[in-house]
Amino acid sequence: MHYVRLLRPPKLAPSKRGMQTELVFTITTDLGDSFLCPSEPIDLAVTADIYSPSADVSCELSERRKLQWLPGSRVAKPGYELPPMVVNAMMSGDAVELCVGTASSFSAEGVQSILSSSGENPSQGGAGGLVMPVRVALNGPDADNDISTRKFRLGAASEPPEYLEVEEEIGESIARHVWDAGVVALSAIAGIYKFPRLHSSQHPCMQALRRMFDDSEAMNILELGCGVGILGTGLCAVYPRGAGDCTILMTDLDEAEGRARSNIALLKHNRSGSQLGNTNILYENLNWDHGRQGRFGRQVRLRRWDLVMLSDCTYNVDMLPALVGTLSALHASNVKWVADGDEPVSTRVFLATKPRHASEQALFDLMAGDGWQTLETQILPLPVLGGERESVEMYLFEKA
Ligand SMILES: C[S@@+](CC[C@H](N)C(=O)[O-])C[C@H]1O[C@@H](n2cnc3c(N)ncnc32)[C@H](O)[C@@H]1O
Repeated sequence: MHYVRLLRPPKLAPSKRGMQTELVFTITTDLGDSFLCPSEPIDLAVTADIYSPSADVSCELSERRKLQWLPGSRVAKPGYELPPMVVNAMMSGDAVELCVGTASSFSAEGVQSILSSSGENPSQGGAGGLVMPVRVALNGPDADNDISTRKFRLGAASEPPEYLEVEEEIGESIARHVWDAGVVALSAIAGIYKFPRLHSSQHPCMQALRRMFDDSEAMNILELGCGVGILGTGLCAVYPRGAGDCTILMTDLDEAEGRARSNIALLKHNRSGSQLGNTNILYENLNWDHGRQGRFGRQVRLRRWDLVMLSDCTYNVDMLPALVGTLSALHASNVKWVADGDEPVSTRVFLATKPRHASEQALFDLMAGDGWQTLETQILPLPVLGGERESVEMYLFEKA
């Protein structure tokens, strides 16, 4: 999958007719290691979305000046005169956001397009799921903050829109944007509830997760290496409302804390308390170098963890011993919760990865060596526009 990425916040400047804006963006893979290289030019669309108390309105800025991404493109720097409606909205304090994306037949706008791109077609539409659009505020508190957002539709296009919004930081930090495995893992889990008839939702891996979520009186879910939090906040958004209480604790290195916490706040802001039901979402720092030694923060120590989840955290082979050591230390911490005479506990791990190098296979030896058993494996193909197909692999491990 490719992502439209802003290289800097949009510039606004007065013009003869009012106001103009200039954008600088690229379209790359999640790692930023290759640019989108389609075989034919593809049309891009830039819209200005106005959110006013009376109605939300969308104006297409690229309508008059066609914008295309060509084979070999590396960066685009389009400039647009803002229509009076947009300028007036900004003057009167309404929020205005720019959205840069591809024509909708290529767009990775949400669960439906991601799952349709993996060979299933809930939309009966085109390939979809190939290029993720980006959004950025033109005014308001976020406008100067080097923040852009991904707005990810969770349900079917035919249903009232339900989005997950995730802020990213404009720039190159690994912890500050969404990654393919997180996007696909969230889509697969959301699919269980939003598109239950799909093959992906019926897969034993998803069905095992569904049974855990639906049947537990209380679930404690710990996420390692949450990054900006697409998987943790997304799971919180789609967690079944009729099920028991659920606590999701997202963790990462301290440099990821600010953005992860602001995405939790954004989730809570976008959904009233009642919409999140009895699901609670928290953040705490957890460095795997400490975790492998059983050194955990207060929130981790407070609970027994039914499920540990992680996406796109296994690409750095040097970190695998610390990561697997942390999983095993979490299991050891779980075991301490068992009183004499209680049933023995098992810990489950849901791990999603987009394999990038053969060396990452070391993960499976380390997991097996520490006594983790693979319960389920599910692979979802991920088509790539202008490139070779990729896939995201999802595993459910258990240690008893
Ligand atoms: C590729 S990102 C994936 C982020 C997120 N899971 C997703 O799917 O979007 C890898 C994450 O692992 C975190 N990470 C790397 N080394 C870590 C360590 N030693 N302890 C904790 N987190 C670490 C990074 O900060 C980063 O957020």
